[in-house]
Amino acid sequence: MTDAKKGFPENFLWGGATAANQLEGAFDADGKGLSSADMVAYVPKAERSNDHTIEITSGRIEQILSGEFKARFPKREGVDFYHRYKEDIALFAEMGFKVFRLSINWARIFPNGDDAEPNEAGLKFYDNVFDELHKYGIEPLVTLAHYETPLGLTQKYNGWASREVIACYTRYAETVFRRYQDKVKYWITFNEINMMTLSPFTGGGVVIDRAENKLQTIYQALHHQFVASALATKLLHEIIPGSQMGCMLARMESYANTCNPEDVRLNQHENQMNLYFTDVHARGEYPKYMDRYFAENNIVLHKEPGDDEILKLHTVDYVAFSYYMTLTVSASPEGERAQGNLFGGVKNPYLKASEWGWQIDPVGLRIMLNTMYDRYRKPLFIVENGLGAYDKVEADGSIHDSYRIDYLRQHIAQMKEAILDGVELIGYTSWGPIDLVSMSTSEMSKRYGFIYVDLDDDGNGTLNRSKKDSFHWYKKVIASNGAEL
Ligand code: BG6
Repeated sequence: MTDAKKGFPENFLWGGATAANQLEGAFDADGKGLSSADMVAYVPKAERSNDHTIEITSGRIEQILSGEFKARFPKREGVDFYHRYKEDIALFAEMGFKVFRLSINWARIFPNGDDAEPNEAGLKFYDNVFDELHKYGIEPLVTLAHYETPLGLTQKYNGWASREVIACYTRYAETVFRRYQDKVKYWITFNEINMMTLSPFTGGGVVIDRAENKLQTIYQALHHQFVASALATKLLHEIIPGSQMGCMLARMESYANTCNPEDVRLNQHENQMNLYFTDVHARGEYPKYMDRYFAENNIVLHKEPGDDEILKLHTVDYVAFSYYMTLTVSASPEGERAQGNLFGGVKNPYLKASEWGWQIDPVGLRIMLNTMYDRYRKPLFIVENGLGAYDKVEADGSIHDSYRIDYLRQHIAQMKEAILDGVELIGYTSWGPIDLVSMSTSEMSKRYGFIYVDLDDDGNGTLNRSKKDSFHWYKKVIASNGAEL
């Protein structure tokens, strides 16, 4: 329980969050198989048809595998955490991290996703990483699936479109729960599970041109992920007593553009469509409002006997989410559109935006935390938040990222308000504590880190690490448990 008068509780988990495919590199080292992220090529902004480059067709996969399609694949290289994890973790420790969020790259453990035996070298790598974290008293927070579906599962089953993948996932989950039972207490089943509706390839290794009916396939694949998530939660509780399983959502708190009831109703619908994912995970059942959506879109979910019971019995222990922006919706076709990582909406005139057009809304974080806590009454964990920005390295090597400090300071201040409002918030891991490859654009120049990595969009650089001004600032925030912002 939190002490409402004090703000951040004593054991608050401060840290940073990453994903294997954006961080590690070494994409084919020590027996690792290819994953969905390894198929994502870098496309310079001028040549992009939209703001992201992550949805891949079956034809493109064939061209990549045959060598016909030549490109750079930055997520294969990451920022070389695979070889530099000791140096990087020492820097996290210097900032005082209590927790470090990372994902296990499924294809390091099961290179094809359904291999008879796990890959020992892959398991050993994460043993080393967890040991290094514990050396400094840093708690690992592990995402089982962060856009890294083994490509073998795409080729064989069209990824999560097939129910077969549930068993592959639970085997993978059981393997890592048993292996790391003394090392990892906090887990997340799927990163931003709602990604499936936006990029099925990213969210679940589903190549949508192989599906007969897009929406049907997406919601069926999600059903498979929900069941897999509940089964993994069951396994975790059996294997690691006292462990905590979380679900994870790209939370898009949505505002109505005006008080016109048409806008308000549309806004209610937008929020429901986003909260649907956490509703299933935290309440253990499909929300009623989805019945109409499914009926009107000719979606018929194929459930097996027992699925509903599995969802009901094995709900998550905490609800985690990313928070970068809010959305404003209008029932009118007029109005300038806003940009987001993958979401749209109209521009909110009260908000400034990042250089990538993401609308910055610290107060929205407080609103969202209250909404989520009222709805679920489960502990909340902000496992991603941050500002992607261009950084300038001065002649003496220093980096004055006051814009990043401002962004984080304002968001953390609103977290504190939410805690005072009564919200049970257990931790905060800002996105990309060390610069890493962008998920949506594969750029390196879109930087989130407290730690700068010398690497540019074309893959040039020494990979050397250096501290930005925000490094020293975040260290003070953690040391003062959020009192000094
Ligand atoms: C989240 C993802 O959507 O946003 C991360 O979980 C991602 O993987 C982060 O990196 C920031 O997005 P981007 O596109 O700026 O890297």
